[in-house]
Amino acid sequence: MAFTIAIDGPAAAGKGTISQAVARHFGFGHLDTGLLYRAVGRQMLDGVEPVAAARGLMAEDLEAEGLRSPEVAQAASKVAAIPEVRAALVDFQRAYARRAGGAVLDGRDIGTVICPEAEAKLFVTASPEVRARRRYEELLGKGIETEYETVLEETRERDHRDATRADAPLRPAEDAVVLDTSALDIEAAVAHAIAAVGRARAD
Ligand code: CDP
Repeated sequence: MAFTIAIDGPAAAGKGTISQAVARHFGFGHLDTGLLYRAVGRQMLDGVEPVAAARGLMAEDLEAEGLRSPEVAQAASKVAAIPEVRAALVDFQRAYARRAGGAVLDGRDIGTVICPEAEAKLFVTASPEVRARRRYEELLGKGIETEYETVLEETRERDHRDATRADAPLRPAEDAVVLDTSALDIEAAVAHAIAAVGRARAD
């Protein structure tokens, strides 16, 4: 049976970890839709025209090296503002959402544009400072050298671009459960998310 869980929110709010844990808990598949935009952004940095890159995207492109780097994140949010890029990625995401056995999709516009009929919707957020701190530590953990102030600046820049674009801007769906993880550790955030999805499943 199909059951779609939409998890949206700004950069480094904890969406990825929460989505993986929710998918594991319910035995659902998980699609990190940010990877689609990162793969297109990565190709743009290599000189490929972004609309062509999005139309020709293949599964192995999602495994390209360096997709988690800050440069690719900025490139992703630039290509994500191009309506033809977004349009090229819609069918794949919708098909995944309706796969048998349930699906968790995390991104920016899953509850608003890709799957407005999702059975459960969460909007995961946290203050920019908390998110930048988490991303800073994540990057250091991967051996990527940077400064906290730089990460904060990049987080703000990307939030602004994602929230102000004309096509599918980042915003909570009206019927989303908003989960602010600023003061929650990851276990607590996951527990809240699972409880919210459990309530939606009971409806
Ligand atoms: O992991 P993080 O939250 O930093 O970023 P991500 O989810 O991998 O997304 C990278 C960029 O892709 C975002 O800044 C958005 O501009 C774009 N994106 C989008 O527009 N729509 C989505 N459904 C997912 C990502």
